[in-house]
Amino acid sequence: MNGSRLLGTGSALPAKVVTNAELAERVDTTDEWIVERTGIRQRYIAGEGETTATLATAAARAALADAGVDASSIGLIVLATATPDNTFPATATKVQAALGCNGGIAFDVAAVCSGFLYALATADSLLRTGMAKRALVIGAETFSRILDWEDRTTCVLFGDGAGAVVLEAPSGGDSGKNAPGIIASRLHADGACHDLLYVDGGPSTTQTVGHVRMKGREVFRHAVVNLSSVLREVLDEAGVSADEIDWVVPHQANARILDATAKKLGLAPEKVIVTVDVHANTSAASVPLALDVARKDGRIKPGDLVMLEAMGGGFTWGASLIRL
Ligand code: UT7
Repeated sequence: MNGSRLLGTGSALPAKVVTNAELAERVDTTDEWIVERTGIRQRYIAGEGETTATLATAAARAALADAGVDASSIGLIVLATATPDNTFPATATKVQAALGCNGGIAFDVAAVCSGFLYALATADSLLRTGMAKRALVIGAETFSRILDWEDRTTCVLFGDGAGAVVLEAPSGGDSGKNAPGIIASRLHADGACHDLLYVDGGPSTTQTVGHVRMKGREVFRHAVVNLSSVLREVLDEAGVSADEIDWVVPHQANARILDATAKKLGLAPEKVIVTVDVHANTSAASVPLALDVARKDGRIKPGDLVMLEAMGGGFTWGASLIRL
């Protein structure tokens, strides 16, 4: 049987845009280097009063409005973030309180840039078992607050934002690749790659928040291999060929990774949703943000077959195939 159905999407971005040229005034970089190596032209950076929870709540409200359902019908909130408002409680509980739908399940998922894929598969599993009827799945980040603004190899890459989807438990009926709902999901982690992408602080080690550290070239190499492999797994599981996919909504880390992964699978580049130019890498927020942009601008339509995929710190990676 197909999994949960997607009822609506929403997203939220901080008010402030920072261009590559503005960054070049702070660190030793250029607009040309950033655009050529990553495809990034600008990013949104959270200002005073904007936090992971406020962005997540705004994205959630937009998703509820898009779905046409009331917050009171949400029995489960799974929020993916590596930049929670507080070490505890979960940022999901702050969102729940802000939406006024207290009493259901609410927790955070920590899988960094793959967080939304982990959150989606987790929420889908809980909905399938009857733990709740409707869920909000949110990816929200304020990565600007864990960046080392002196380190040009990382600070130019990331931005802040949030994206959310409303999911409804499967109700039986049609299933398979032509019926609506999540058709197949696969998740992976390889903890041996910790040192290639991590934050050098935390409550139990340094008692500080820490900063992002990344060996970019090695992450890049792993990303293309791992993403191609998990996409192949999901296609095989679903019995779908790459050319049947209408849209791929990838984690937006680097335009070159998107191109290389699409090429490896034989996917047409025009089927790949790209927002890295305007959002930069928003970690767990990037997939739902890009999904919302492409639904709202009319590219992704009801009935389309959509592949979501991401890879990030851990390493973690995953993909989900969904018929809208
Ligand atoms: O979201 C989680 C997953 N993350 C990713 O998928 C990121 C994957 N990695 C990447 O996207 C790319 O590796 C980067 C964009 C991070 C870097 O691109 P690259 O083509 O792999 O460059 P590189 O790290 O090999 O650096 C090339 C040169 C170096 O100088 P030398 O050693 O050749 O003299 C760097 O010091 O570029 C230099 N460099 C910069 N120059 C100007 C590094 N950062 C900058 C910068 N501005 N911001």
